[in-house]
Amino acid sequence: MQIQHRNGEYEVRFESLEECFQALPSDVRIVTDENVANAVDSLVRFCHVYVIPPGETSKSLEVFGQILSWLASTRASRKTMICAVGGGVVGDLVGFAASAYMRGVPFYQIPTTLLSQVDSSVGGKVGIDLPEGKNLAGAFYPPCGVTIDVNLLNRLPERQFMNGMAEVWKYGFIMDAALVDLLSADRLHTAHPNLLSVVGRCIALKAEVVQQDEYETLGLRAILNFGHTVGHALEHFSGYGKMLHGEAISVGMVVEARLGERLGLTKEGTADQIQKLLVCQGLPVTDVGLRSEDALIAAMYGDKKSLDGKLSFSLLTEIGHCKLIEGVSEESIRMALRES
Ligand SMILES: NC(=O)c1ccc[n+]([C@@H]2O[C@H](COP(=O)([O-])OP(=O)(O)OC[C@H]3O[C@@H](n4cnc5c(N)ncnc54)[C@H](O)[C@@H]3O)[C@@H](O)[C@H]2O)c1
Ligand SMILES: [Zn+2]
Repeated sequence: MQIQHRNGEYEVRFESLEECFQALPSDVRIVTDENVANAVDSLVRFCHVYVIPPGETSKSLEVFGQILSWLASTRASRKTMICAVGGGVVGDLVGFAASAYMRGVPFYQIPTTLLSQVDSSVGGKVGIDLPEGKNLAGAFYPPCGVTIDVNLLNRLPERQFMNGMAEVWKYGFIMDAALVDLLSADRLHTAHPNLLSVVGRCIALKAEVVQQDEYETLGLRAILNFGHTVGHALEHFSGYGKMLHGEAISVGMVVEARLGERLGLTKEGTADQIQKLLVCQGLPVTDVGLRSEDALIAAMYGDKKSLDGKLSFSLLTEIGHCKLIEGVSEESIRMALRES
């Protein structure tokens, strides 16, 4: 699958890790995390592998600096390929390092979590967290290629798989009713024969959006944020790491579907239907944090996606279709929180 961006295009290849590794140039630097290094034996063949501690805390200025220094100490040149093998943390961090090292070197993504395969590895956003907030420093830096090997997900902990499933459902809810039907018919798991085609479909849906609004300036890319305004606030409120991103947006999707119904935009009954589907998937649909209305609303205003102090939401009209709505009243949000 080819993905276009302002300065060219890159290919998303559906192939085995082995095929990908064989095709990598010899002048390559690999960055991964400890869990992935333990799960992927074949990394030992590479001379230059940098292993970072797993988890969001590695998406820091400190580890970013360490990677740049390691690249310099191993004499990486402008032509050296930097390859991220890992989840969204490794992809975001290493992509940002690749964008900065010598003002930009080739960057290759091998996403190893469901979330990174269907979401973060496509779209060109890379970055790190600052002590002041998540994803505050970054760049648009598309990779030169992406390899998707769904067999890598066999070693992924169940909770991490479910984390990615929340994003998979989101694509269906906002853009693809047929995907929702497919997921409803049979619960997806790592050995399911549909896994590869579902991952491919999610990537195609994300690509369709980001190709039209690469730099998030037209408001189109913001439709991908369904469930995220409430979800981000919940993650922020409960402290990053306690609740996984997918768990927070699962709750967020139910609240935002209720909000859409309250505003008369979303077809009645949609929120209940979404709630049922997410419960069947084993994802959370409510959280004690929803009771802390004031803190959540404050966190939503702090979200960088709010325009001129007004809250904007990607809301469903019905399953499979959505719209970006700006200037949603605080009172409606409070009511939707109370109903969830
Ligand atoms: N750039 C974007 O557009 C974008 C989009 C969505 C999310 N993100 C970012 O992605 C990050 C979250 O990514 P994530 O959910 O992949 O988390 P992650 O990278 O922290 O991975 C989750 C856990 O799974 C482990 N792991 C990864 N692959 C494994 C495998 N194959 N087998 C066993 N264990 C494995 C990791 O070590 C980690 O402990 C966040 O920082 C978020 O901001 C970025
Ligand atoms: Zn998300």
